[in-house]
Parts: sequence; C-alpha cells; structure tokens
Amino acid sequence: MSGPQEPQVFWHATSVARQDREQQNRHRGCVLWFTGLSGSGKSTVANLVESTLFSKGCRSFLLDGDNVRHGLCAGPGILEKKYDVDFAKRFGLGFSPQDREENIRRVGCLAQLFCSAGMITLTAFVSPYRRDRDAVRSWVTSQGSEQDFIEIFVNTPLELCEQRDPKGLYKQAREGKIPHFTGISDPYEAPVEAELVLDGSAPPENLAQQVVDYLYKNQILYPER
Ligand code: ADX
Repeated sequence: MSGPQEPQVFWHATSVARQDREQQNRHRGCVLWFTGLSGSGKSTVANLVESTLFSKGCRSFLLDGDNVRHGLCAGPGILEKKYDVDFAKRFGLGFSPQDREENIRRVGCLAQLFCSAGMITLTAFVSPYRRDRDAVRSWVTSQGSEQDFIEIFVNTPLELCEQRDPKGLYKQAREGKIPHFTGISDPYEAPVEAELVLDGSAPPENLAQQVVDYLYKNQILYPER
C-alpha cells in the first residue's frame, strides 16, 4: 500500500489481509469494469454475471451508474432537496466532462476498496473518457496487481442502442432536451486495450458466459467454483 500523501493522514494496515479473504472465498478479488454507451447492455450483462457468481457462492457486488447517482454521486437536484443550493453546487454531479471525471474517480476508489475486500466487483458506467478509465485502472492496479482491473467493452452500435432506448433518453437527446448526451452530443472513446470486448448485439446470456469463462481462464475463480 502506498504511503501517506497528506502530511497528517496515515495508512493503517488491517488485521485481516486480502489474501486471507481470498483463500476463504475460493476466488480472487477484482474489478470488472463494464463500459459502453447508454443502452449497450452493460447493466444487463453485469447482472447476469453477478447472478451466476451468486449461485456459485462467490462474494460479489455490482455498482451501477444509475443507482450510484442516487447517493454517492447524486446530482444537484437530489442534493438540493436534502441540503441546500450551495452544497448541491459543490458536490452534485451531472454529465459535464468534469462531473463525469469525478463520478468515475469516486466509483473507482469505491471499487478498489471492494476489490481489496476480496470481492468480485462489477461496475456498469458509461465512463466515456479513456483518461478517466485509465486513471481507475492505474489506481486499482497500484493498490494490488495488474490482474485486478478487467476492462470490459460492451461494443454495441449506437443505432442499436438508440433503437432499444430503454429509458427514452436518446429520443430526448435528439430533441436537444439533454445536453452532453454520450453518442449524440458528447463523445464515447472506445477502449483500445480492453481485456474483453463483447459484441453487444449478441444475446446477453452469451456475453455473460464469456465473462465467466474469462474469470476461470485467468484464475480469478478457482477451479472448484
Ligand atoms: S458516466 O458517463 O458518468 O459514466 P453514468 O454511467 O454514471 O455516466 O450514468 C449514465 C446513465 O445516466 C445512463 O445510463 C443514462 O441513463 C443516464 N444519463 C442521463 N444523462 C446522460 C448523459 N448526458 N449522457 C449519458 N448518460 C446520461
């Protein structure tokens, strides 16, 4: 673990080590970082993977963009009701490049903690900027090993995402009602070296199976699981 960066803040070692937890769990901790356009199928596939892991008795948790934006990364609208306008302005997160950067930073730190708790941590965030994803990769791997961060690109054509439009957001974005909408008025920077690239037009069950196969092949799940 890296040393203190703030002069008055010190790192405390915990009595139960990550390796102890992993031995008990019979699997390693890791971060499965799903990225892709809204409607690409990230949450669907991540949920299917997690259900399989749960049925095998693994310790896992899924951090989903829409859910996290209700609490840890709540927007100004939510915070204003709970606190005040000033607080909401300081800490609320929207979809500007800076706000997405902070959203992904917070989630990345959280995912790293889950990973060090020995959990198979799944995240489903658009995370459209390569720099932000790389920053999470760098943080997670610096606290453990290179194998801890697995970037999974759910590669679904924009046309298909727009056709699915499960929340009706693409329609609104096309009408100019949602600014900075990824794929429409904001860029999506596809990963260049993702550990896994899934064809988002294939059945989600097949994609989930590819992820589980990856976990066995890379000894994240021990053979007896
Ligand atoms: S991220 O870009 O910061 O990673 P995140 O995954 O948390 O985004 O949230 C994305 C979800 O918020 C999408 O699934 C979509 O439902 C909704 N959303 C609302 N506004 C936008 C927008 N401008 N761009 C992308 N998604 C948006």
